[in-house]
Amino acid sequence: MILTEAKEFKAGKNYPDLTGKRVINAFFEPSTRTQYSFMVAESKLGMLPINFNVETSSVKKGESLYDTLKTFEMIGIDALVVRHPANNYFLELDKIQIPILSGGDGTGNHPTQSLLDLLTIQEEFGKFAGLKIAIVGDIRHSRVAHTNIDVMTRMGMEVSICGPEQFNDSSAPYIDYELALKEMDIIMLLRVQFERHGYDLALNRETYYEEFGLTEERVHSMKDHAIIMHPAPYNRGVEISNYAVECSKSRIMKQMHNGVYVRMAVLKRAFSE
Ligand code: CP
Repeated sequence: MILTEAKEFKAGKNYPDLTGKRVINAFFEPSTRTQYSFMVAESKLGMLPINFNVETSSVKKGESLYDTLKTFEMIGIDALVVRHPANNYFLELDKIQIPILSGGDGTGNHPTQSLLDLLTIQEEFGKFAGLKIAIVGDIRHSRVAHTNIDVMTRMGMEVSICGPEQFNDSSAPYIDYELALKEMDIIMLLRVQFERHGYDLALNRETYYEEFGLTEERVHSMKDHAIIMHPAPYNRGVEISNYAVECSKSRIMKQMHNGVYVRMAVLKRAFSE
């Protein structure tokens, strides 16, 4: 349903009217794509987006997440989009009566990223069942990987993971990288999240690139029809080469574009319930 509606919105059809609904985008972690594509989605639906600045808020005086968000409800905000570094941050928010949309929680989940990934895959292949995907890199710290492994498996896709041993959290079967490149329909790269593991990486940037970087040569070893995905932001010269970012197999720009339409669809759903 969300993907169907996202495709309609992408075609410029059937926009719901959410004119005048106030939404706060409360990002307690940095974000470019999620935060600003939610803003664009909100604007397209006639909503009134307000961006929350943690640094100038009473969070700096020690106000809790719940007390901050409850305040927004009390002053007349109609919905919240929240990204927070704590896994399952939403479990402490059950007394909030307005819709809360996830912009990602810690290393837990990133639902709208998964939806835009699914839309991109559906547009490419017209199906999910039977497709083979390898998610490559910093699996352990990736909310994108954790949601996609769960969701894509449920959609009938064959999901494998690969990357350095220290990032392997056994959340899916492991596959050798060079084999994955030859066999997969989709290679989904992940950003090495240096900020989450204190730069304590057994491989340095150069050796990571040598062992797991998607170089031009590796792109050419992929199947003819296979595609490259990455949630971004990316570390050029670590997990991905300049060549791979915008080569003909890359769907990374399309993922970013599709983010607007799936976020329109989830906003519509939030106000339909
Ligand atoms: N893919 C993603 O969540 O990007 P941002 O962190 O820039 O929102």
